This record gives sequence, structure tokens and C-alpha cells, in this order.
Amino acid sequence: ATIHDQKLQRGAGGELHQFAEDGMPVLTTAQGGPVSDDQNTLRVGARGPALIDDFHFREKIFHFDHERIPERVVHARGYGAHGYFETYESLAAYTRADLFQRPGEKTPAFVRFSTVAGSKGSFDLARDVRGFAVKIYTQQGNWDLVGNNIPVFFIQDAIKFPDVIHSVKPEPDKEFPQAQSAHDNFWDFITLTPESMHMIMWVMSDRAIPRSFRFMEGFGVHTFRFVNAADESTFVKFHWKPKLGLQSVAWNEAVKINGADPDFHRRDLWQSIQSGAFPEWELCVQLFDQDFADTFDFDILDPTKLIPEEILPVKPIGRLVLDRMPENFFAETEQVAFMTQNVPPGIDFSNDPLLQGRNFSYLDTQLKRLGGPNFTHLPINAPKCPFHNFQQDGHMAMRNPVGRVNYQPNSWNQGPRESPAQGYRHFPAEEQGPKVRLRPESFADHYSQARQFYISQTPPEQRHIAASLIFELSKVETPVIRERMVSHLMNIDETLASKVGHALGFKSMPKPADAAMPTRQDLEPSPALSIIEQ
Ligand code: HEM
Repeated sequence: ATIHDQKLQRGAGGELHQFAEDGMPVLTTAQGGPVSDDQNTLRVGARGPALIDDFHFREKIFHFDHERIPERVVHARGYGAHGYFETYESLAAYTRADLFQRPGEKTPAFVRFSTVAGSKGSFDLARDVRGFAVKIYTQQGNWDLVGNNIPVFFIQDAIKFPDVIHSVKPEPDKEFPQAQSAHDNFWDFITLTPESMHMIMWVMSDRAIPRSFRFMEGFGVHTFRFVNAADESTFVKFHWKPKLGLQSVAWNEAVKINGADPDFHRRDLWQSIQSGAFPEWELCVQLFDQDFADTFDFDILDPTKLIPEEILPVKPIGRLVLDRMPENFFAETEQVAFMTQNVPPGIDFSNDPLLQGRNFSYLDTQLKRLGGPNFTHLPINAPKCPFHNFQQDGHMAMRNPVGRVNYQPNSWNQGPRESPAQGYRHFPAEEQGPKVRLRPESFADHYSQARQFYISQTPPEQRHIAASLIFELSKVETPVIRERMVSHLMNIDETLASKVGHALGFKSMPKPADAAMPTRQDLEPSPALSIIEQ
């Protein structure tokens, strides 16, 4: 055999493996054609014009030109890892979800942590909410628990989501500020939306600058339902508790870290998993029924409220261990598609109006972000259990029905069938009422839990909340917006309000805000504003 022949080998299936002169596999085009020169375009003479015949150059540049896909409209910056979920005990009394039946059983999982407001290239230590999105590949299909590191949310109804997000993202004319809540549009919207006050107290606290992903809690936020084999429902709230405990950094540390290492959180996750220090969380639940829910003044469907753990302790039901980094960031972390509507039999929704809106939004946005209806064909999104359906075609279809049958019922005795016994049954909640656009009265208290959160904090934590309010509001240029925020603080804690008001130069305190504030306010100076030193 010649030396040249030794660079060709036939595989077991007869395929041709070609090796370059140094023994490495030969570079090929996407069509599989071997490439002879990847350093120079095809030209007329060494100094002449390039030729359109150069299919290798054209394919290489074409592919590069199309590398970018839209970043997520929120939670654009994120970092993911693989792992598993392990069930502690059978929860058959509460849910028929297969993953909760057998103690010790492990189910594969993928998690993506994220910031909310910043763009894909923003820095890790922004003062922001963190996404905590978990995909568990159960034997009954994927369950996505798409949560945050804060147990409540800014708004009560999904129809306000575009507004809250527009207000926190860069202003449309300036295209800044980036990844910071410190600007007029954000505080304008927040102060005109009193239901956001509870969440704002969390966002101004140390919770919004975690030390790393490994030291964060996670929350499903909404009330969900467990449904057992007898179709009995129990309300459930989901919590992730980090094994390492909860830790944050101080603001001056966050600012320095962002400058020195904008990838601080992703580096931490990468290094800990690569070194075998696998981060771990316990999945805990708060389980309750309608009678228990009726004991509260607030509504368990209101996502701006939590159920205090002192009143209803959390019950650990399993653990999540992250033990493997993605091989490719884009294929896995960027293309993963979490959606709240991915639930297995035995887990169901409540009527939380934020959750109901989310159940529409994720599929819709991913259709655009991932370029068509077939993103479940990507390995990171595909179920890991057997699955069968008659979906076909569309851009980038990797799976199509095999054979004649692509519909049912059919007379050919082929293909999958529905199963009332095995299939997903929605909990048959009884619903009735007029068709209205109306916020229930039970959603009206916006301050009690904001106050409870503030007074539950230790004195240093309370000082941090005051300091971040002063810092953020001092960046707000419109005096009436600052005043409005302080008037809300008057309803939360008067000492905090006066500390912030004093630091902002107020001579006296504004009146407490009206909880039923109009959604629009005049920017003309109010009488109270005249008392503000400008
Ligand atoms: C993305 C959490 C409310 C729309 C995300 C992600 C998380 C998250 C963690 C990132 C997922 C990932 O890592 O890929 C939450 C929580 C909410 C909430 C905890 C409230 C409790 C909403 C609402 C809407 C919404 C009300 C819209 C009505 C979106 C969209 C994305 C997203 C469009 C981008 C998804 C993608 O491109 O793949 N959310 N979200 N979210 N969320 Fe939410």
C-alpha cells in the first residue's frame, strides 16, 4: 500500500474515514466533501479576484453569516448544567406523576440559571431576579418547572408582562441602561403598579445579588396542583433549597466582581462541576387544600403573595444534583426550551392569571426563537421516554411518520392511540362566572407581605435594602417618581421610608400612596413635590 492509501480506512459499515497528512480527520464541507486548502480563497492567480466557483468559501461564510439566533426576549443571559432528580418517598397519595412514585429513583434533568433583564452579553452580578428553570425528563414526558430565585412576581396578570419587561429593558430611544433597574422607566412603571411592591422589596434585598447559582433558592412561584390516581387535587407550591445554604454578596462586592469578571457565576458553576463539587438542591413542597387556602386574607392564586413557611413548613420530597456540564453551550443551554405548560399527568395548573398567560407565552416565543415548530427534535428538548405521534414536516423536521399512516383513527391498525387511562387528564375543576376583565378583591392588598418581608430581615439586611433603594432612586431623574416610591414605602415601613426620603433630600415625607393608584399619573409637580429639595 502507498502512504496515500494508509490515510483511507473503511469503517465497519463500509464508510470511508479519511485522514490528513498529520493523522487527524480530513476537514470536510457540510456536504461531506474533503477540503484541500482552508487558508486561501480560490483566485485567478495569486493576486487576482476571487472566483464564485469556490463552493467551500461560499458555504463556510454563508454558515457563519447565519450563526446568530434571537436571544431570549427575557432571561437572555443564562448558564446550564445536566444532572438528575432523585425522589425521596412515594407521593402517590398526592400525585400520580410517575417520577414521584418510587423512593430512590433518579430521573435525568437539565437546569438553566439566568438573569432576567440583561442582554446575552451582560454581566452576571447585576441586581436582578435569577431564573431557575428545571427540565426533568420523566417517563411520562418532560416536566418543566420554570421558576425564579424569588418566590413572588411583579405583576398579578400576564397581560402586564410586556409592560414590566419593556420598562426594565433599555429605554427605546437611548438603548440604555443595560441590565440595571436604576432608571426612570422602570421606577415609573413600578411606582404606578402597587402590586409590584412585595417583589420590589425582594429585588432591593441581598437576594438579587447571589454569591453564585449554587447558593440560591428557587421557587415555582405559582400555586400548582398535584392530582392523584383518584383524581383528587392538592394545591402545591414548589421550592428549591440549596444544600450549601443561601449566600449573597454585598453591592460593592458585586460592582467590583462585574468589572473584574463578568462571567463570575458561570465560571463558578463550571469550575465546581468540573472539579466534582456537584451542587445540590432539595425539592420541597408546601401542600394544602382549599379550606387552608380560605384561612388567608390574600388569594393563593395571586403570584405576588407567598405562603409563609412558618405557617406551612416545606416538606422535602427529593433532590436535584448537577453533575455534568453541556458539551456545547449553544446546542444545549441556548437551544433549550422550557415551558410552564410541560407537565406530566399528576401535575396541573391553578387559575393563577400569571401562570395561565405563561402557558401561552413560552411556546409562542420559542416558535420564533428556535425557528419553527420542530425544536422538540433537538436532543436537549426531546423527551427521554418513548414517544409517538403523527406530527410531520415543517422546517428542519428530523422525524416523520414512517409508512402510510399519519392520522388516527385509521383502518390499517397502525400507529399510536389515545389512552383515557394512561393519558393526561386535566383536573375537572368546576368553573363558572361572567366573562369579565376584573381583578378580584382578594388580590387587593399590596403592602402586608412587603412589610412582612422587610421586618423579617436582619438589621444588616435591612440596611442593605435601604442602601439599594437610595442608590437606585438617586439615579432616577424625575422627582415625582422618587416621591411616588417613597409614598409606597410609607405603607411598608415608615422608618425605611424616612431613611430613604431623607437620603434623597426630602424635607418631609409625602402622604402614603393610595393602593388603588391610577395607572397613569400627572408629571406636573404635585404640592408634595414642592417640599423636595431639588
Ligand atoms: C423565560 C421565569 C413570568 C414569558 C423565562 C425563564 C425563566 C422564567 C426562568 C428562562 C428560561 C430559560 O432559562 O430558558 C418566569 C417566572 C415568572 C415568569 C418565574 C413568573 C412567576 C412570565 C410571564 C411571561 C413570561 C408572565 C409572559 C406572559 C417568558 C418568555 C421567556 C421567558 C417569553 C423566554 C423564553 C424563551 O425564549 O425560551 N421565564 N417567567 N414569563 N419567560 Fe418567564
